[in-house]
Amino acid sequence: LAAEAPATHRVQDRSIDSTADASAPAGQGGFRNAPDTDPSLPANQAWAAGIRERAKDSRLGVDAVEAATLRDADALETVIETGIAANEGWRSLSGDERAEILHRAGRELEARRGELMEVAASEAGKTLDQSDPEVSEAIDFAHYYAERARDLDRIDGAVAVPSRLIAVTPPWNFPIAIPAGSTLAALASGASVIIKPARATARTGATMVEALWAAGVPKDVLQLVQLGERSLGDQLIGDPRVDRVILTGGFETAQAFRRIRADLNLLAETSGKNAIIVMPSADFDLAARDIVASAFGHAGQKCSAASLAILVGQAGTSKRLHNQIVDGVRSLETGYPWHATSQMGPVVAPAEGKLLDGLTKLGPGESWIVKPEQLDDSGKLWSPGLRAGVQRGSEYHLTEYFGPILGIMRVDTLEEAIALVNEVDYGLTSGIHSLDPDEIGRWLETIQAGNLYVNRGITGAIVQRQPFGGWKRSVVGPTTKAGGPSYLMPLVDWVSAEARE
Ligand code: ALA
Repeated sequence: LAAEAPATHRVQDRSIDSTADASAPAGQGGFRNAPDTDPSLPANQAWAAGIRERAKDSRLGVDAVEAATLRDADALETVIETGIAANEGWRSLSGDERAEILHRAGRELEARRGELMEVAASEAGKTLDQSDPEVSEAIDFAHYYAERARDLDRIDGAVAVPSRLIAVTPPWNFPIAIPAGSTLAALASGASVIIKPARATARTGATMVEALWAAGVPKDVLQLVQLGERSLGDQLIGDPRVDRVILTGGFETAQAFRRIRADLNLLAETSGKNAIIVMPSADFDLAARDIVASAFGHAGQKCSAASLAILVGQAGTSKRLHNQIVDGVRSLETGYPWHATSQMGPVVAPAEGKLLDGLTKLGPGESWIVKPEQLDDSGKLWSPGLRAGVQRGSEYHLTEYFGPILGIMRVDTLEEAIALVNEVDYGLTSGIHSLDPDEIGRWLETIQAGNLYVNRGITGAIVQRQPFGGWKRSVVGPTTKAGGPSYLMPLVDWVSAEARE
């Protein structure tokens, strides 16, 4: 197997200032985004080949998940009591002290970059070009929230009182960055954490948690669980000693949590049905590239993914744009991440229900430009689909499918395009491709989404520079942005400084 490439060889600086010294420690001269791996360097290619080779039969995290599985209500009770007891020590640390541990966590995550990519490929079918930036984002969360922990001690006139216990229930589609971000934020705020990674990516979650333990986060402060019984989930969410829950998942899951406990203090980032609008003034080559990347990265299994392209006026009749999109979709090679040529991986579980409908059925007026094909017996490997003729108000227009399908709508004006976007109940990400400042201005003023992207893809938010959070039904609870300056604020209770004196 190929040896690990030295860390110094794995550099591709994502920061705006490309002259910045990427090796300087974060948090001293200010925050810097962790660089992704540069795939053009031969040493990195050998490193990636080693990860792919190991991924197919990876057993990373198996033991940790086995050890973390709770079988009955008593076991969960012990976990809750342990987290609360351990919180006395953790909450009494200063923001500076917690920050030191979080910065170490960032370094431990970097040290495990290859392991995290290996296990995410093994469990979630994540191709390495998708998981490498996820590790960078997790590292960014560690260093960024470390500094926000210090901030909590410096708010004039108010004292931040940490939660004793926060439950973190992350999704399987970003099995590294989202569990890491939610957990690190909760820890930074002074809370103990019970994290239950999604079952489908339990081993990836466990590997992330092990990095945080290695950094010095006590195992009683950060407890990893899997639930051996379904009822234990209700017990965890319903327990009043759990002060807050951080959920990333479907809108229905957030509603279900609220049904379990009406007064639950929930921070949930939920579903999306996201569009990229293309204006006649756009750079069509760039637009097509960004649409295809936003729609089919990680097989479209992103809450942020583009599943609609709304082509306005001549953008809708342009052969050039049409061909660029169609060729882009057709040229994507679908395959498992252990094959070096795979550009789009499998869906995480065999397609069924809504996703299977989306891959196989058409609504009124729709037709396939590129029809999805099932490529093997697993039910997981599907080539990407492109549907034309999506009608206003249709099921495809308004609801989320969470898979490798892109629909095209055509309208005459920007205002009609904006209306189509705003008719959707969700408001997570949204994009426009236009070279006309007036059009961009009109769009920015009226579009209803939490994350707006102009002339770029609509996935891949970046900590500090492009904090991420939803609007409308894409968020339940406070509309705070992950990777932004105020993310920790709703994780604590605020009391006036005078009241504390
Ligand atoms: N933060 C993820 C993205 O921006 C969901 O794609």
